[in-house]
Amino acid sequence: MTEIAILGYGTVGSGVAEVIGTNAELIAARGCALHVKYILDLRDFPGDPYGERVVHDFTCILDDPEIKVICETMGGVGAAYQFSKQALEKGISVCTSNKELVELHGAELSRIAKENHCSYLFEASVGGGIPLIRTICQGLTAEKIEKIYGILNGTTNYILTKMDREGADFDAVLKEAQANGYAEKDPTADIEAHDPCRKIAILASLVTGKKVDWKNIRCEGITKLEKADFAYAWALDAQIKLVAMSEFTEKGCYACVSPRLLPADSPLLCAQDVFNAVLIHSNMLDDSLYYGRGAGKLATASAVVGDAIEAAANPGRTMGGSWSEEAALLGDIDEYEQGYFVRLSGAADARREEVQKVFGNGYTVEAKGVPGEFGYVVQKMREGAFLEKIAAMEGVLGYLRYDAPAEK
Ligand code: HSE
Repeated sequence: MTEIAILGYGTVGSGVAEVIGTNAELIAARGCALHVKYILDLRDFPGDPYGERVVHDFTCILDDPEIKVICETMGGVGAAYQFSKQALEKGISVCTSNKELVELHGAELSRIAKENHCSYLFEASVGGGIPLIRTICQGLTAEKIEKIYGILNGTTNYILTKMDREGADFDAVLKEAQANGYAEKDPTADIEAHDPCRKIAILASLVTGKKVDWKNIRCEGITKLEKADFAYAWALDAQIKLVAMSEFTEKGCYACVSPRLLPADSPLLCAQDVFNAVLIHSNMLDDSLYYGRGAGKLATASAVVGDAIEAAANPGRTMGGSWSEEAALLGDIDEYEQGYFVRLSGAADARREEVQKVFGNGYTVEAKGVPGEFGYVVQKMREGAFLEKIAAMEGVLGYLRYDAPAEK
């Protein structure tokens, strides 16, 4: 039996206790029985089955030699960082769902874990319950990973699915998502895409073995999307999704997070509503697809508990993936080639020649119920060249990245 502590008894922390309680027999049968000895929280939980185990002082956890694993589900990068560091320095393994902390201090915390013969595990920090990190670090160890392309944020996927299916406005769907508890009161990290940007930075760091800082990744959220964008998506038999991508080349890692048009046959379109889907392209296996609940109490808690079991089953060893504190080589995203879709004011017939001259061969698209404008599908070009062209052009109403089929 391994004694553990949970830091933070919120949604994910209480989920950790629930997963351990519900699957106790199964987990024990696998030889790694876990027992929750303490729960650290500022609040008390009278009447809760675990209420008696709540403590308010971290030192009573740190100083208890029976505690071998800590599940850090408190979030933030202040106390969570200090507590994780102190625990690892004492040889206590830490399992976390805290992507902000993993992205910021993951390299250092993994190093401290290694120095102290324990583990810093963070499966739940990317893709919730989908075993993505374990897949990259264990399942694909014979592979050279060349590209990761995925829908890594459940909140925005819920919003985009609603906008697509119901033709609803962004503001109205966001309010509804907040009322249903899908979106946070302050939804900035999701709708401005900081959350999936941190997640792709973690995955890219694992693949490169060096730190990819999310702040160096081009990151565009979904707040500028309008009903008209979805009308064009329907006309193109495509869907708009917030896609985080990272391509690994000899020139470095090219990463970008932005709304994209995905063609109807894109495997990522299995992910609707709050679901996530991630496509990994590697050199021997080719494409492999990972799909599931990227957020939510039990899905996320399941990944944290999976890590706790791994740490408990391997005392004195360092498990999991990591990267060094050295910065990874990033490719200049302006040099990256991809296709685009651009919305332009005026009539397609009147502007076709001018638009073709600027963007080269492509084709115009008209959408139902969107008068006074048209769309143009731009074939692959360097991102920097595309952005320069639209900055210099009259009447650009919006654009999306779009790897369209070559011919209409
Ligand atoms: N806000 C995140 C999402 C939670 O919507 O995907 C899981 O990381």
